[in-house]
Amino acid sequence: MSACTADQGAGPATGVRLEIEGTASVWTDLPAVQQELESIGIGVWPLSLADLPGELAELLTLPSLTEMQTQALRDHFLLPRDEVLELIAASGRSPNVPGGGAMETVVANQDYGYPQLWVVQDDVDYTRFDRLHANVSGDGVGVDEVLQMIAGAGVVVRAEQPDGAVYRLELDCPSADRCWIFCYDAGQSHVGSLSHATPGTKLVVQAIGPPEWSLQYTE
Ligand SMILES: [Fe+2]
Repeated sequence: MSACTADQGAGPATGVRLEIEGTASVWTDLPAVQQELESIGIGVWPLSLADLPGELAELLTLPSLTEMQTQALRDHFLLPRDEVLELIAASGRSPNVPGGGAMETVVANQDYGYPQLWVVQDDVDYTRFDRLHANVSGDGVGVDEVLQMIAGAGVVVRAEQPDGAVYRLELDCPSADRCWIFCYDAGQSHVGSLSHATPGTKLVVQAIGPPEWSLQYTE
């Protein structure tokens, strides 16, 4: 069963919804979503938070975090290289840099880098990040991203294919102890959008590959 009648949101039942924009193709059943996404090199899997230590589980419920809380939560979730590589392989692709490349990377001409824990804030306009882009180094090598959604709802990933089709994945955490982990090739045209995410939504993002890269708009 994959039909979905709801126009918005991933839906309370599965917390996941995939569509090809501008078409009637919609999937809300996780195995079907996974199968479609694997064909374009994107992986998405449930992430259990049931074993999270109590003090960290508490942080997941907060609307914003101090620098120390951010660090504690981020460090707990950071995945080692071998696990990141396994997720890339399970997504149906090879890493852009053989062996994965740099685990810590910086965005050229910006004062930030990765890994990051993003906490969606009520008063920040995230729509400026909604333009399709590719994350690539000066010599055109792409970045691989692994994202752990650990709280919230309304995270959207858009991935543009070479034929112009845009896949749109919407994710909500179905419950406080069950969210999502997903993986895509950020060297391809995409958007990871937070502009529909509920305040307090939290994402641990690892962007690996070339040590320094920049956003290049593809639309
Ligand atoms: Fe991006």
